[in-house]
Amino acid sequence: MSVTDNEQEVILTVGNSSVSILKYGATVTSWKKDAKEQLFLSEKAVLDGSKAVRGGIPLVFPVFGKANEGPCSQLPQHGFARNHAWEFLGKTTESPLTVQFGLGPENLSQQAKDAWNYDFTLLYSVSLTDDGLTTRLEVENTDDKPFEFNVLFHTYFKIDDISKVSVEGLENADVNDKVSVSNYKGEQSITINQEVDRVYANIKNNDVTIKSENKPQFTVTLQENLPDVVVWNPWIQKAEGMGDFHPKDGYKNMICIEAGSVAKWNNIKPGEKWQASQSFKAML
Ligand code: BG6
Repeated sequence: MSVTDNEQEVILTVGNSSVSILKYGATVTSWKKDAKEQLFLSEKAVLDGSKAVRGGIPLVFPVFGKANEGPCSQLPQHGFARNHAWEFLGKTTESPLTVQFGLGPENLSQQAKDAWNYDFTLLYSVSLTDDGLTTRLEVENTDDKPFEFNVLFHTYFKIDDISKVSVEGLENADVNDKVSVSNYKGEQSITINQEVDRVYANIKNNDVTIKSENKPQFTVTLQENLPDVVVWNPWIQKAEGMGDFHPKDGYKNMICIEAGSVAKWNNIKPGEKWQASQSFKAML
């Protein structure tokens, strides 16, 4: 069991499992179970701190997507948490092995501070066990005025073949389909054979399962304050249009199952804290 830390990243190891977290964005860029990679990372992902990472688990805060109006409207898509360097705060527990990162206004660019002028503290914890990974984000309002925010763990799971994948656990959720521009109720089992970009809101279950050839490959457990899940696969044309997405047919080897709180704003008063957590198990 070990934690190693260099200028760019922090690596946790437990037996044959490991997780690498880039300080930029506190982005998990790799999670290996039994030495096998479980997350998709584009071969052209930019890891030098000049652009959000295409793959792994970028953190979305304080806005999901782009806000047309309101206090988040001057922020870039998906906010600022994924494109600022976080402070590494060290190991917090030995069992499960957990490290923590922090972000506050002092870590933001002037541009981000001007765009979203609140005092806040984010604490991000990542825990690794032999077969699983847990991520937890705490938001604290240290300002004297309330603010509103979205949170999303934008996870890119690595899969062998998208045509053999199904996702279960999102039935009866309230779907906002951004591709067909329609709303409907979540299906028993989701399969993907075209661009998919949907928010499944008000999920009824705690577990979402990603299956490959009908065998469970991952479970995502929505532990706390994560009522929504975004399902995203860019498919051929969108993958083509993303400069940092490589290889271009990599869309066949990834599926984003993004646990979040995005369908509604969370409101937090001065002095209040809010937290959300999820955990993954890899089964294949
Ligand atoms: C998903 C959104 O969460 O992220 C998509 O639902 C978006 O609309 C995708 O295209 C990737 O976003 P970005 O900013 O990382 O290219």
